[in-house]
Amino acid sequence: VRRVRTHHLARAKAQGERFTMLTSYDYMTAEVFDAAGIDTLLIGDSASGTVLGNSSSLPITVEELLPMCRAVSAAAKRAFVVVDLPFGSYEESPQQAVRTAVRFMKEGGAHGVKIEADTTTASHLAAVVRAGIPVIGHVGFTPQSEHAMGGYRIQGRGESSQRVLDDALALERAGAFCILMEMVPAETARAVDEALTVPTIGIGAGKDTTGQVLVWQDALGLNGGKVARFVKQYADLRGIMTEAVGHYIDDVREARFPAEEHTY
Ligand code: KIV
Ligand code: NA
Repeated sequence: VRRVRTHHLARAKAQGERFTMLTSYDYMTAEVFDAAGIDTLLIGDSASGTVLGNSSSLPITVEELLPMCRAVSAAAKRAFVVVDLPFGSYEESPQQAVRTAVRFMKEGGAHGVKIEADTTTASHLAAVVRAGIPVIGHVGFTPQSEHAMGGYRIQGRGESSQRVLDDALALERAGAFCILMEMVPAETARAVDEALTVPTIGIGAGKDTTGQVLVWQDALGLNGGKVARFVKQYADLRGIMTEAVGHYIDDVREARFPAEEHTY
């Protein structure tokens, strides 16, 4: 299989095609998603909640995200593998951003990184690009700024759509090969996509971005909590797993497992 590269994503936009991204945090899900044909896999800092059980993206560290990145990179034969720079690992200086991104490329086997940034921190992103690392700029709602933004709130409504556009343009100018927009009105996302040369990815950003991304536990119905309006549930993994575990428990209790064929 031929590896998906940044130029394939650029070509998708140029030709009016769409590409796909799912999060993944471990070897086996990455294998499944890659074999199913997902174009890009994201080791999101959403792992803070989905894997580690924290209530926000803020606590997860580079040391915690690195082994997940290594596992996904090892599994992905076709997908382009992108990892989030976690909160606290790139804000101090462009040098700190480069140092962290290099670790994810060297030790994590990533093909690129994603950075939550805006007009004021574009220079950090630019330094990573200068190091030869493909970068996705994340704008709109940025979960690492949850407290500054006053919670999980749509960004870029009405007059503030200009802010999202300014951020996206600044990050494109800084060298981002792609811009990800989270929780912005479809109209704003469309305007940003049209203003940019580089491809865009959306989550809760309507249908007019070049690509779409979802957290896999949301998309496949493993998440038992309340999911956002922008999530479409493609399976009920939680139901399937609960039923299967129930059968296992019953089998063991009733001495139906292990049977003859499972016994040496
Ligand atoms: O951390 C994450 O999973 C993300 C995506 C939802 C865009 O940043
Ligand atoms: Na993230």
